[in-house]
Amino acid sequence: MIGRLNHVAIAVPDLTATADQYRHALGAKVGAPQDEPAHGVTVVFIELPNTKIELLYPLGDASPIKGFLDKNPAGGIHHICYEVEDILAARDHLTATGARVLGDGNPKIGAHGKPVLFLHPKDFNGCLVELEQV
Ligand code: CO
Repeated sequence: MIGRLNHVAIAVPDLTATADQYRHALGAKVGAPQDEPAHGVTVVFIELPNTKIELLYPLGDASPIKGFLDKNPAGGIHHICYEVEDILAARDHLTATGARVLGDGNPKIGAHGKPVLFLHPKDFNGCLVELEQV
């Protein structure tokens, strides 16, 4: 059911320093910071030949990234995102297997302008999983 790895999201305590590190030390193609007020994050997209990295930095006091960085001050992998063709069919299949969908269970429009859902990390070995319909 799941397709390509769309991105790995890393929460970072210093967006500029990390973007510079990926640009200069790792030689990656790094985009400009984008504020995503609906998600409480500022995002930098890094394009790799086979997937993307998303650097996440808190935007606003209610940011979902804030608590993560409080627990992981040096930053860390926040979630991984798999592509699906039909997000509602994927959700229904997953909930039938016992997996929990976060929030009200309905897709929201994600940072790429496409429908996304998040699955409970306790159901996936401690890994927050995002599904994105492509
Ligand atoms: Co994501």
